[in-house]
Amino acid sequence: MKVAVLAGGNSPERDVSYSSGCMISNALAEKGHEVALIDVYLGIGTPPQGLQSLFKKYPNYQKQSYKIPTTPPDLEKLAAQRVSDTGMFFGENILELCRLADVVFLALHGSAGENGQLQATFDLLNIHYTGTGFAGCVLAMDKHLAKEVMVANDLPTAPWVYLDRYDQLNWDQIDSLGYPCVIKPPRGGSSIGVSIPQNKEEFLRGIQAAIASAEDRQPDLLVEKYLAGREFCIGILEGISLPAIEIIPNEGWFDYEKKYQSGLTREVCPAEIPEELSIRLQDTALKIHRALKLGYYSRIDFKVDGDGNIYCLEANTLPGMTPTSLFPQEAAAVGIGYADLCDKIVRNTERKEE
Ligand SMILES: Nc1ncnc2c1ncn2[C@@H]1O[C@H](COP(=O)(O)OP(=O)(O)O)[C@@H](O)[C@H]1O
Ligand SMILES: [Mg+2]
Repeated sequence: MKVAVLAGGNSPERDVSYSSGCMISNALAEKGHEVALIDVYLGIGTPPQGLQSLFKKYPNYQKQSYKIPTTPPDLEKLAAQRVSDTGMFFGENILELCRLADVVFLALHGSAGENGQLQATFDLLNIHYTGTGFAGCVLAMDKHLAKEVMVANDLPTAPWVYLDRYDQLNWDQIDSLGYPCVIKPPRGGSSIGVSIPQNKEEFLRGIQAAIASAEDRQPDLLVEKYLAGREFCIGILEGISLPAIEIIPNEGWFDYEKKYQSGLTREVCPAEIPEELSIRLQDTALKIHRALKLGYYSRIDFKVDGDGNIYCLEANTLPGMTPTSLFPQEAAAVGIGYADLCDKIVRNTERKEE
């Protein structure tokens, strides 16, 4: 198949995305596909032999790699790197190239790739893409909306307070959660803008950090009760829960650096937990996946307290996809290697509306 792998973008998670994109492209080329890896925001110039010539197959395909820097990228400098200023999110030739592909593999992270806007646009353009459709993306990307759906379906999630405006705080509500608590931009990812304040001073600083990192520049915030305990993720693939993976940071919590720099976090898959807990996590994850209308694959994140109570933190429609990312590790635990996983995702792309 002819596959365009879309990565990068203009989100703080662009480096993570590009790194995933390289690995996915290599894997798909290894599986015999014709592959073009492109940065959705930067765009690409037209080669002399036309856009078709950007799809490469082995032996002409050249392996790609990209190392994620320790800190999120400087987005101010990005505009200058665009092939041309298209006046829109999509860079030069991106939509044309996507229309030439049989399938677009979304290796994006962050707002435009995960919040459903791109999926809805592609539906209207009759471009076929991997993963969840736009409605599921809208529900899962907004952590507050997703939590409302979970509660409506009796599915467990961390207690929270939603604040419409960071500059009009209701301290009674916030204090009811106690300290430490967890501040999150409602539509963020990769722990960017997340903080765990221990007191009111740290809380006020945390709010500024969350607001500054909000890609969509909205003034709302989510504050969650801090949950001590173990952290697990469950991947869903083809309507089935994969084995739980446990995340054990060497110290502190699972922040940006610990997510993407090797050696700072230990991951155990299958998690060393009683079968009863593992089944409960898998069962809950699948129910959350369905309630949020997620597609062929997803990853649901949980905390589990000392009494074995489970709480969902969030659902991810485009989980990290480097070979060492959590979701591919879970697939590997049931014998699905990385290249096979990428191949399955491409081959199971639903044809959306014609
Ligand atoms: N309520 C909570 N209690 C304790 N730790 C939390 C809580 N919420 C988030 N965290 C920590 O912050 C990390 C990022 O939070 P998460 O909700 O998964 O957002 P993101 O979309 O940025 O991954 C989690 O992996 C976890 O380590
Ligand atoms: Mg998470």
